Amino acid sequence: MSPNTDFIPFARPSLGTEEEEAVIKVLRSGWLTTGTEAKNFETEFAAYTNSSKALAVNSATAGLHLALEALGVGPGDKVITTPYTFTSTAEVIIYLGADPVFADIDPDTFNIDPVKIEKLLKKDPSIKGIIPVHIAGNPCNMGALLKLREKYNLFIIEDAAHSFPVKYNGKLLGSIGDIGVFSFYATKTITTGEGGMIVTNNSKAAKRISVMRLHGIDREIWDRYTSDKPSWQYSIVDAGYKYNMPDIAAAIGREQLKKASLFLKKRENIAKYYLKNLEDMDFLKLPEYVENHGWHLFMPRIVPEKLTVNRNDFIKEIISKGVGISVHFIPLHIMPYYKNKYGYKEDDYPETLKVYNTVFSLPIYPDLTENQLKRIITAVIDTGLKYRRTS
Ligand SMILES: Cc1ncc(COP(=O)(O)O)c(C=O)c1O
Repeated sequence: MSPNTDFIPFARPSLGTEEEEAVIKVLRSGWLTTGTEAKNFETEFAAYTNSSKALAVNSATAGLHLALEALGVGPGDKVITTPYTFTSTAEVIIYLGADPVFADIDPDTFNIDPVKIEKLLKKDPSIKGIIPVHIAGNPCNMGALLKLREKYNLFIIEDAAHSFPVKYNGKLLGSIGDIGVFSFYATKTITTGEGGMIVTNNSKAAKRISVMRLHGIDREIWDRYTSDKPSWQYSIVDAGYKYNMPDIAAAIGREQLKKASLFLKKRENIAKYYLKNLEDMDFLKLPEYVENHGWHLFMPRIVPEKLTVNRNDFIKEIISKGVGISVHFIPLHIMPYYKNKYGYKEDDYPETLKVYNTVFSLPIYPDLTENQLKRIITAVIDTGLKYRRTS
């Protein structure tokens, strides 16, 4: 079957000659693994996020795992997060023998609801921390979360996988809690193919992360190759992981970082375009425009009372018109693993479930053309009008 070249993909990275040349330089240097590119990427990222330390890793999943480990999470501990996220956010808690405790979302923002968090904390004061996720790039209520952090002596690890580079009260999301973790997966707001970055001002945690991300070796990755001490002289101080970022990825990341604010502007413009062109469609509930938002995802909801089809059939029709649509996310508490392990029922998190049953994600990335945007709008409107309930 020949590929449909007209099909508008759901996601597509923006890569130019800058990234190509940066990769070629690394290939020709003879040094492919973690080295000066990764180190420079860390230095630049720390400066960008105004953090005292940035640590490059090979995924945000690795970053979240290392962050929890460095803050001392272990068997029997409990950490609050949202059921409305990708599995990475919760699975890393389980890696450490601890358990996620879900708090339902605010249906207007799709983000974890601080009121529901406090209810859980009152019931169980042994809970260690919170992993808020800035879903789609929309900031969580960090003010309320920081208050809970103080009141209940918690840590906050921000899952900022969707929210680079978004400011919140003058600080970048990810740099507000104890530790922040960013994703550079292929569909994210900047990419290295696969990759992630951890930022923190906690020097003890940073030291632990730098040891554990590379096999529990007690020397910084760079130090082994730049200091006078021979590279083979190191000690293994723990059973660490293999989570380092190779220089090929870091070289791409450094070029992407330079373009991050331009990418954000383009995403914002697409969000505004969708909002303007879909505002009269009563079969849709559009996301609210907020000034500081990463627009990693643009997530409208269908209004079921206005349509004769459900969400799945609605998006099936749009996809048949050549537009890539996705759904974020199938809630974790209805996923077989979490359901079986913790015995959740579907309506344990009713707001999450309601959002999930009606939401879909439209393409939103810097390289979308005006013509593609028009086609997307037409496909959505035509589908809505075709299935609009008349009585
Ligand atoms: C909210 C969230 N957290 C974490 C991750 C994990 O990112 P990575 O693929 O870099 O491990 C993702 C990935 O899609 C995500 O959506």
